[in-house]
Amino acid sequence: MQTAQPVLTARALTKVYGSDATATHALAGVDTTVFAGESLAVMGPSGSGKTTLLHCLAGIVRPTSGAVMWRGTDIVAMRDAQRTALRRTDFGFVFQSGQLLPELPAVENAALPLMLAGMPRAEATARASDVLARLGLAGMDDRRPGEMSGGQAQRVAIARALVGSPGVVFADEPTGALDQSTGTEVMSILTSAAEAAGAALVVVTHDPGVARWCSRTITMRDGRVSGEFLAPDRSTPASAAQTEDAR
Ligand SMILES: Nc1ncnc2c1ncn2[C@@H]1O[C@H](COP(=O)(O)OP(=O)(O)O)[C@@H](O)[C@H]1O
Ligand SMILES: [Mg+2]
Repeated sequence: MQTAQPVLTARALTKVYGSDATATHALAGVDTTVFAGESLAVMGPSGSGKTTLLHCLAGIVRPTSGAVMWRGTDIVAMRDAQRTALRRTDFGFVFQSGQLLPELPAVENAALPLMLAGMPRAEATARASDVLARLGLAGMDDRRPGEMSGGQAQRVAIARALVGSPGVVFADEPTGALDQSTGTEVMSILTSAAEAAGAALVVVTHDPGVARWCSRTITMRDGRVSGEFLAPDRSTPASAAQTEDAR
């Protein structure tokens, strides 16, 4: 069986907010790897460091110490402009809600990363329209976020995350503002679309129902990885990591 390739590797990551008496050790030494094609859930109680880990992996937050290796390069050591470019071209992001621009139609919201990267508007919106259609939103290009259901709006956010063909999609509580059945639908679409696009997926959640959609789960406690388990009955690309890690 083929061994999954690491795409992102965190080494000895720490993040301290504040200093001295008020210091918060949000990450207290995290080593973890995201493998190509897998969907990785990061679970743990509120305050355990999940969002901080996601932001460090994605180059949004600079860790206090440690490294984040992306295809052989430490993104912590990159210049800011280089890291910003990497976030635009290689990473996609889905957040809880409120991330769409209310005045822009769905197709322009989804096309934003391409337009920011300099692609002409017509080409960017044509590509975004294709992605929206693949996510079940054909015919909704001109709707504004306020004219869509919460689940539809989250599909637009997923389209925006995938439109640039990223290597990794990061999602922080992507179903946090949705009811359970809409959340299930969004996780189904998110995991299948990322897999079809060949993107690894990292999902922060405190909901075991969300984590069940992922091929692997790590748990966090007090800024450390406290456990890891693999989905028993999935045959996603990450099953290669499963044989490697199952001991
Ligand atoms: N910008 C910040 N400034 C100060 N403390 C922060 C900041 N962001 C997070 N923290 C603290 O770091 C810890 C981990 O937070 P976070 O990563 O958001 O956890 P989670 O996503 O698991 O709820 C918490 O104690 C939180 O209060
Ligand atoms: Mg969080």
